Amino acid sequence: MRSVLYSLALPLAAAAIAVSPPVHPSPEGKGTGRWADAYASARRLVRQMTLEEKANLTRGFTRGDNVCAGNTGSVPRLGWPGMCLHDAGNGVRATDMVSSYPAGLHVGASWDKNLTYQRGVYMGKEFRAKGVNIALGPNAGPLGRTPLGGRNWEGFSVDPYLSGQLNAETITGYQDAGVIANLKHFIGNEQETYRRPYFGVEAASSNIDDRTLHEYYLWPFMDGVQAGAASIMCSYNRVNNTYSCENSRLINGVLKGELAFDGFVMLDWNAQHNLDSANAGLDMVMPLGGSWGQNLTQAVRNGSVSESRVTDMATRILAAWYLVGQDSPDFPPPGVGMKNLTQPHDPVDARVPASKPVLLAGAVAGHVLVKNALVEDTRRALPFAARPAMLSVFGYDASVPPTKNTDALFQLGYMSSQEMGQAVLGTARHFDQAARGGTIVVGGRAGANAPPYISDPLSAIQRRAAVDGTWVNWDLTSPDPDVNGASSACLVFINAMATEGWDRDGLHDDASDALVLRVAAKCANTVVVVHAAGIRLVDRWIEHPNVTAAVLAHLPGQDSGAALVRLLYGDDNFSGRLPYTLARNESDYSVYAPCGRGRDNTTSPQCDYTEGVYLDYRAFDARNVTPRYEFGFGLSYTTFDYSALSLAPEAGLCASAGNGTADLWATLARVEATVTNSGAVAGDEVAQLYLGIPDSPPKQLRGFEKVPLRPGESATVRFELTRRDLSVWDVTGQRWVVQAGTYPVYVGASSRDVRLTGTLVVVEGASA
Ligand code: NOJ
Repeated sequence: MRSVLYSLALPLAAAAIAVSPPVHPSPEGKGTGRWADAYASARRLVRQMTLEEKANLTRGFTRGDNVCAGNTGSVPRLGWPGMCLHDAGNGVRATDMVSSYPAGLHVGASWDKNLTYQRGVYMGKEFRAKGVNIALGPNAGPLGRTPLGGRNWEGFSVDPYLSGQLNAETITGYQDAGVIANLKHFIGNEQETYRRPYFGVEAASSNIDDRTLHEYYLWPFMDGVQAGAASIMCSYNRVNNTYSCENSRLINGVLKGELAFDGFVMLDWNAQHNLDSANAGLDMVMPLGGSWGQNLTQAVRNGSVSESRVTDMATRILAAWYLVGQDSPDFPPPGVGMKNLTQPHDPVDARVPASKPVLLAGAVAGHVLVKNALVEDTRRALPFAARPAMLSVFGYDASVPPTKNTDALFQLGYMSSQEMGQAVLGTARHFDQAARGGTIVVGGRAGANAPPYISDPLSAIQRRAAVDGTWVNWDLTSPDPDVNGASSACLVFINAMATEGWDRDGLHDDASDALVLRVAAKCANTVVVVHAAGIRLVDRWIEHPNVTAAVLAHLPGQDSGAALVRLLYGDDNFSGRLPYTLARNESDYSVYAPCGRGRDNTTSPQCDYTEGVYLDYRAFDARNVTPRYEFGFGLSYTTFDYSALSLAPEAGLCASAGNGTADLWATLARVEATVTNSGAVAGDEVAQLYLGIPDSPPKQLRGFEKVPLRPGESATVRFELTRRDLSVWDVTGQRWVVQAGTYPVYVGASSRDVRLTGTLVVVEGASA
């Protein structure tokens, strides 16, 4: 069913190696729409620059006075101060006096567009206060092709639609706050194994056919570009055997051509292998001069790169700077708050008091309740009775780690090729499943930052116990703890860690599972809380009759424990939904291990994406595999009813092809439904819309709305289906096409809990 034109990926026959054809010349930024003023200003300034000055904008320089991950050159003659570039995912990295927001995966589990936007705004304000011009995020790749991916938690979801919506909100938030967003990693950066070349072995090649590229991996980048992302980071890996950062088909052809991206493309750190990347559309190299260094001006002089290309690079970079208002005299000097923390410094406190409710609400919103059994006739395990008499707390993940995340003091940066070699070969710094040193609130490296404090589960429970008069027992070290037989409930805290640089070893670990089972054997009311930087299987214990409740608590950021306590005691209701499918077994995932593992004799690892778009629930649905908990699932303390589905237009739509990207965003159909809180307490429902597109997976997410509802209250949820939402990518015609056929519309509470069904009909008709 996959059509292949631009790339060939034939793993078994090995008849052809995937190739990425060259696309030249590099399109110049046009500066239309929202970019118009910024381009006019940028062009004015660039016109006054010498070739050397323009080239200085496009590369990094070492600066001793800040720890920014990168610093561009400056143009003092024209008063242009240069820019500081810095990570990333859950807050400003490697500095003090900042906040730790919920990580990407946690935000994905919230399914909350408004909260995601607010998080983006407040995080953006912190970057700005520190003098960071470019925040190195958000993350639309990896999406999570392999559930073992070490960086999956940096993004929002394995689902391109959910990822795209939340990336767009984050980008808008950052840029509204005056910081340039850097949407990364473009593209096919789906694993850490072989992510970079080392010892003569090339980085993994993600061999992606054209239809899969468009309908899956490119999809969230399209949302990012549409939201105005001012920069994009190309990735370490190869795509169809050409390094992403010199892949002219992808940068010139797809990003700057098809998507008409007007911002600039930035190198992932040291990912440049070739000066010709300039002609492939790369606009900025980091952290230093890369292979263009001083040679870019040389290349212009000898004719291998045109001066107009360098002018276009500089224009795109400056346009981004103008777009978000960094020409304003009150934008802080680049890197002003990013001092080396081991030296005496006056810390710049970047935190905004108004962000506190957003941090807490965000932490609450990404917790997903997956099991909540009856413990008495009508009472479920959660929420706790008003004042539990006795709570017993177990597990290494319940308390704060003994040392604060060293990321505050040391910018770990990227790995040397030697370390990388050792890591992929599994001989050094091999990553364990669980972080046993304490609770986790974020994953590791570029997506992490240091929190001002960590509200850990045990401290938060004790604080509540002090008020309620609850007796608390705890044993966080014993693998087989004694349990006080009078415990009202036992809480077991375990985790699953992941980090940039390493893929995970598996989706659960025996020691943590054994701990749960041992506590459950002694305690009739055992509540399991899993902090997880990715998918963490629960099948070893989820059906144990004494495991009465289970919470996937993901990565909540600094307010972790406080948020959990609000949920456990019913001050807030669970509203998170799984942004991935939780399988019963590892083998249930259509793609499991990162490719290349165990194939140590290759010098050119090939990752053939033969599964196409059949990942996660798309594959579970198509193959009829029953998950433990499906994509979109999550329990609440209340119940919701769905009614009154309406579809417009009722008459058939006409099949058609899109004319360029602009009309892809036109609304072709509207769907409405009524959601009612039919239970006894307030709660938020995440109403989800899935569409059955002909010649595609049975269901694909194409809308979601999170609605707060008091008991008895109803709300209308509205979904707008755009041309893109209904389209497939036509490889031969190189365009998005709405095919004739019937499109089932499913509205419900998860990908498998469909409550209302309708049909859209598309008839053969004149081309739009
Ligand atoms: C490499 C990582 O892949 C990227 O995400 C990060 O932004 C840079 N290093 C800078 O730290």
